[in-house]
Amino acid sequence: MIKKIVCDSYEDACRYAADIYAGQLKAKPDSVLGLATGSTPIGLYNELISRSRAGLIDFSRARTFNLDEYYPIKATHPQSYRAFMEEHLFSKVKFADTRIMNGETADPHAECAGYDAQIEAAGGFDLLLLGIGVNGHIAFIEPAASYPLGSYLVDLAEDTIVANSRFFSEDETQPVIALSMGLSPIFMAKRILMFVSGANKADIIKKLFDGYLHTDLPASFLHLHPDVTIVLDKAASGE
Ligand code: GLP
Repeated sequence: MIKKIVCDSYEDACRYAADIYAGQLKAKPDSVLGLATGSTPIGLYNELISRSRAGLIDFSRARTFNLDEYYPIKATHPQSYRAFMEEHLFSKVKFADTRIMNGETADPHAECAGYDAQIEAAGGFDLLLLGIGVNGHIAFIEPAASYPLGSYLVDLAEDTIVANSRFFSEDETQPVIALSMGLSPIFMAKRILMFVSGANKADIIKKLFDGYLHTDLPASFLHLHPDVTIVLDKAASGE
C-alpha cells in the first residue's frame, strides 16, 4: 500500500521526509538505510546535514547501502554515484559504514551477488529511500518484460540516458550500463520512502496512481509492499 503525502513545496517535502529519518534514527540508531542519488534528494540530504549538525539526528551508528552505480566508472569520477554521495552527504555527516556497488569491478555479476549478500547479512533495510525516473524506474530497474530478483547489470533505457545526460559535460563519456539493486533487496525493506519532486514527474506519478500494476512501470510494484510512503511536492503530484 502506498501512502501519499503531497507537500506545498519542495522545501516542505524535504522537511517532511527529514522528519521520517528523525523518527527512524531515534527509534533505531543503528538503522540500515538505503540511499538514492539524483537531483531530487539533494535538498533532503541538506536538511539531514543541518539537523545532524544541530544535534537533532545522529547517524553515527547507521549503515547505508546505495541503490546503484554506473558501470564502468571510477569511484573518483565526478559523475560516479560514490562521488555524488561523498559530495552531498558522506563528507558532511558521519555514518558507521557507507556502501555503494563498485563501478570499477572486473566481475559485475559477482559484485551484484556480493552486494545482495551484504544487505541480507545486515538484516535488510529499515528504511529505504527511492526516487523515480521519468520512465518509472526505481534505482536503475528499467521497464522490461521480466526482472531479475537480485541486483544486476542493466542496460540503461534511452529515456534515462537522455534524462541523466544533463550531468555529463561533452568531454565526459556517459555510461550506458549500470549496476542496480534488484527487486528482492528493495522488497525486503521494512519501510520504503519514495521522494519525488518537479513537474517533469507529474505524468509518471499520474500513471503510478491509476489503479493498475503496470509491468512496464517498475515503481508500480511498490503497491504490493506493505509500508511505502511517497512524499512529493505539488508540482510532481500534478494537483
Ligand atoms: C537516477 C537514479 C534513480 C533516481 C533517478 C531520478 O536515474 N538511478 O535512483 O531516482 O535518477 O533522479 P532525479 O531526482 O535527478 O530526477
